[in-house]
Amino acid sequence: MKSEIITLLRQRGTYVSGQELCERFGVSRTAVWKAVEQLKKDGYQIEAVKNRGYLLKEDATRVFGRTELESRIKTDRMGQTLYYYDSIDSTNIQAKRLAEEGAPDGTVVVADQQSAGRGRRGRGWASPAGTNLYFSLLLRPDIAPGKASMLTLVMALAVAQGIRAVMNETLPAGMQTTEDSTLVPTAKMEEGLPLVGIKWPNDIVIDGRKACGILTELSLSVEQGSIDYLVIGVGINVAKQEFPAELQGHAIALDEVANRPISRSELLNAILTAFEADYGDFLATEDLTRLKGQYDALLVNYGRQVRVLDPKGEYDGIARGIQTTGELIVELPDGNTKDVYAGEVSVRGIYGYV
Ligand code: BTN
Repeated sequence: MKSEIITLLRQRGTYVSGQELCERFGVSRTAVWKAVEQLKKDGYQIEAVKNRGYLLKEDATRVFGRTELESRIKTDRMGQTLYYYDSIDSTNIQAKRLAEEGAPDGTVVVADQQSAGRGRRGRGWASPAGTNLYFSLLLRPDIAPGKASMLTLVMALAVAQGIRAVMNETLPAGMQTTEDSTLVPTAKMEEGLPLVGIKWPNDIVIDGRKACGILTELSLSVEQGSIDYLVIGVGINVAKQEFPAELQGHAIALDEVANRPISRSELLNAILTAFEADYGDFLATEDLTRLKGQYDALLVNYGRQVRVLDPKGEYDGIARGIQTTGELIVELPDGNTKDVYAGEVSVRGIYGYV
């Protein structure tokens, strides 16, 4: 009932009488009062005025937790089974434990803090409390294991779309949207590059700095060689913070750009909503045919010089978007193109990270 009360108070944006809440939830006035007291303890600012009722005063950063997430997530499937932890070793590790216990497709694991957050290439992922969004999505797709890596790109697209949906609400000074709704800073209009975009294959960058990392882990069923489950872990820098020394200058938080607090629960809902739609498009063709256009539109490398760090030899070229199977198409100086596979190589901009 707690999350429903928050949802209702948020929808109304004005006083809702105790009587109405009692009738709606079929409980006594005392039960409503008790639930409201608990919500206040959770951190919600709820004003109770005699003869008028209850009013929710929102503060995007104040509250995070199970009730808040349940009151925000409006998807059909993704996140309808939800686990929240104030602190956990890693949401990816926890999602894998839950998967082994039989948790269903679409399960989402969220934590306010991780004590052993994991990044790619065996690195850690700094995960302080109260600032960032850490979550893992558990999927059980009926697709060949070789196609699973494309789902990381699907998540990158959904994260970029989710961030843009939440940030577009108030455009910071100096920003504007193009005809196709791309958010760009005024000064960069000529370049036509999106401010919030994807660095292939799956980093989300804002103004050339990393705002999000994605780590996908796959578990195959030994007997059939098919996918048992897949965990896609997402870490997003939401609030401005002191980044670890090695990330300074390369990392950015969403609220630095938005110039206002960003609600982590609202952001998660926006991402899961986008993912649900994109995942449906992916499953329809089992590749990125329906998503390539949207992905390319958000690709910050598009049309730019990139350096491909291939262990067999580095080379430079111009990024020309992705294949429908997720490889980056790189045009070489001689005019030929090469498909670059994620995992084997990484790509750097000639003039920096992007
Ligand atoms: C990267 O190195 O870019 C990937 C970072 C992925 C971090 C996220 S935070 C939520 C989930 N749980 C983890 O332990 N890692 C991922």
